[in-house]
Amino acid sequence: MTLPTLQIGQHIAYYPIIQGGMGIRISGANLAAAVANAGGIGIISAMGLGLRSQYFDPHQGRPKQRHENFLEANRLALIDELKTARELSPHGIIGINVMVAARGYEALVKTALQHGANLVISGAGLPLKLPEYTADFPTVALVPIVSSVRTTKIICQKWQRQYGRLPDAIVVENPMSAGGHLGAKVQDLDSVQFKADQAIPEIITYLRDDLQETIPLIAAGGIWDQADIRKALALGASGVQIGTRFITTEECDVDHRYKDFHLQAKPEDIVIISSPVGLPGRALKNPFVEQVLAKSMPRPHERCLVNCLKVCKFRDSRETYCILQALDRAAQGDMETGLVFAGSHAGRAEKILPVADLMAELTMS
Ligand SMILES: Cc1cc2nc3c(=O)[nH]c(=O)nc-3n(C[C@H](O)[C@H](O)[C@H](O)COP(=O)(O)O)c2cc1C
Repeated sequence: MTLPTLQIGQHIAYYPIIQGGMGIRISGANLAAAVANAGGIGIISAMGLGLRSQYFDPHQGRPKQRHENFLEANRLALIDELKTARELSPHGIIGINVMVAARGYEALVKTALQHGANLVISGAGLPLKLPEYTADFPTVALVPIVSSVRTTKIICQKWQRQYGRLPDAIVVENPMSAGGHLGAKVQDLDSVQFKADQAIPEIITYLRDDLQETIPLIAAGGIWDQADIRKALALGASGVQIGTRFITTEECDVDHRYKDFHLQAKPEDIVIISSPVGLPGRALKNPFVEQVLAKSMPRPHERCLVNCLKVCKFRDSRETYCILQALDRAAQGDMETGLVFAGSHAGRAEKILPVADLMAELTMS
């Protein structure tokens, strides 16, 4: 049986697959365009794009000025990334992922819409004001990320009451298996409310009974193969969002050493660490992560570079580490001192594939 198409707002993807946004410069124009060209939805992560761009010099300016330069560099680098993605995929569906927790959130969202993004996916906090920032672009689809029916209700009630609209789709991310930041406290990670087979039917029931609506739900976290996709669809999801599996593709924008590190990962390397954002994260063990787990400050001389987050334990109380610099080091191929986020299935990939081959494997019957 062929997989169904996925309609989100006015956009119809040939396959019900969204490639998850992965900061910092892991899912850029190259990966997003390749997925869009292969019939899925490609997502550029808007996080930290300015850091390695021509628009920013980390050694220039006093802290306040550096912060402002960084925000502007992020915006300009996002425009470049969207332009490149559109050149590579003139007709594909391309969106951005932006974390509510990031400073410059509103500017990044507005910039993306002005430069042709088809959808905005937003989590790591509740995107309560997203409809306000996007009001001038009614064809752009708005997709919050939630982990449970509780956060779904908060977002839907607020959007309906204040803006008279609802999400065009909702990503339901399972913190028990997803890569990156997780939408649950560490002690609640294995709570049943987050399990896909509980959360998805509960959200469908809420939307149907309380709002008399059907909104496409996108299951995220631990989706590896076609059987996982079919399981998610059987639960009532309309599509899936996949992150980790797209890292080991030729087109993924990250350094090849990062991809190789993923290829070599074993199940016991996958750990939960705390992040300065105040959320737990799933990552691969390496010397940096071992220091974080041992609670010894990994780089005692490091300072907050650009004040990138609204809430940051590292900036405010010197707890944990600078996540921007840790993710950036990994993305540049430093597997000793960088932070490598990964979902619970990391290490299952056997080789680096072209995105088209991976999409064929995920979709062909
Ligand atoms: C390396 C990495 C970076 C990520 N960065 C982000 C991000 O910046 N924003 C976000 O909302 N989700 C982020 N995620 C989550 C993914 O978008 C996706 O929802 C998740 O990885 C799905 O689980 P999977 O990896 O098991 O497929 C990241 C995931 C990984 C593995």
